[in-house]
Amino acid sequence: MAKPLLCPPHLLSTNLSGKTFIVTGGNSGIGLVTVEQLARQGARVILACRRPSEGERAAADIKQRGAAGKIDVLELDLADLESVRRFSAAFEKLQTPLHGLVNNAGVMNTPFGRTKQGFETQFGTNHLGHYLLTELLLPHLQKNSPARIVNLSSCFHDKAMGREGRIDFDDLNFERKKYDGWVAYGQSKLANLLHAKHLAKRLSGSGVTAVSVHPGWVRTNLIRQSMPLWFQDILLKPIFRLAGMIEPWEGTQSTLYALLAPEVEKHNGAYFSQLGLYREKEATKGGWPLRSPNPHAHDDAAAERLDAVSRNLVGLK
Ligand SMILES: NC(=O)c1ccc[n+]([C@@H]2O[C@H](COP(=O)([O-])OP(=O)(O)OC[C@H]3O[C@@H](n4cnc5c(N)ncnc54)[C@H](OP(=O)(O)O)[C@@H]3O)[C@@H](O)[C@H]2O)c1
Repeated sequence: MAKPLLCPPHLLSTNLSGKTFIVTGGNSGIGLVTVEQLARQGARVILACRRPSEGERAAADIKQRGAAGKIDVLELDLADLESVRRFSAAFEKLQTPLHGLVNNAGVMNTPFGRTKQGFETQFGTNHLGHYLLTELLLPHLQKNSPARIVNLSSCFHDKAMGREGRIDFDDLNFERKKYDGWVAYGQSKLANLLHAKHLAKRLSGSGVTAVSVHPGWVRTNLIRQSMPLWFQDILLKPIFRLAGMIEPWEGTQSTLYALLAPEVEKHNGAYFSQLGLYREKEATKGGWPLRSPNPHAHDDAAAERLDAVSRNLVGLK
């Protein structure tokens, strides 16, 4: 079994006091470990989550374990664009500079559903909610550059349970074709990758670096729509581990590397992958950065079109 990629230790002991980061979905899984590590290094972290009581509980646990940085919990439901706007307004009120945005929250293989504004749940939550959030926060990141945007994509942007990741511009929200939870997840994760790629192009020279990551196959709550959590966490844990599943601390390494490593600035727009399942065997070892084996991930015209379509859908001029 291949070993997960790990951040060089010095990166995780750098003093981050004076820096502020936003982590979406910071109450669970990879987001939770990201918040804790940044706060341990002295950063101020805005823990953005849809269930503030869970966020407060997570923040209290992190503080109790000794993290020095300040943690603010702010409500954010990415499946409701009005909530995204309220989050941005609440962030403004904190009057703090912003140095990094981790677009981490996500759902996977959900049954068919729609967000508050009527978009398919996974495309709406994983991509469109983060798209609007990023646009609203961009002025803060630009003002405080060098700054970073890290989008949590997935190796499933390439192939999700055998379905090739692609953006179906003719039917983004499954209005005409039959719904498939893995097709929708793959589309949303390819959108996360293309979003970062296009941001990098748009923001070139601004001091804001935008990248996407695959965190690995990580033991978190993400799988809950596909199997009961106790199946993964107890029954199948040893088998899944042998098959390549990693623990949340290992699964947070790609995010931390993408957010903190100085050399990432040289790879604006790139994709950073932990171990993963790809159509090409060579890619399964991951790479920081890795050239995606999915040709759609290199389609600049699709990235441009996705940007224009998303801007329109979230109601921005
Ligand atoms: N775990 C993996 O193997 C894996 C592999 C590849 C990529 N990823 C990506 O990694 C990211 C983090 O996932 P995870 O594995 O840490 O899963 P997780 O433990 O389920 O965490 C997901 C987080 O997203 C939040 N979230 C879901 N819907 C939201 C919404 N509408 N508004 C705001 N927050 C919302 C969840 O909040 P609640 O707690 O309220 O549900 C939770 O905090 C996701 O983008 C996922 O696609 C994970």
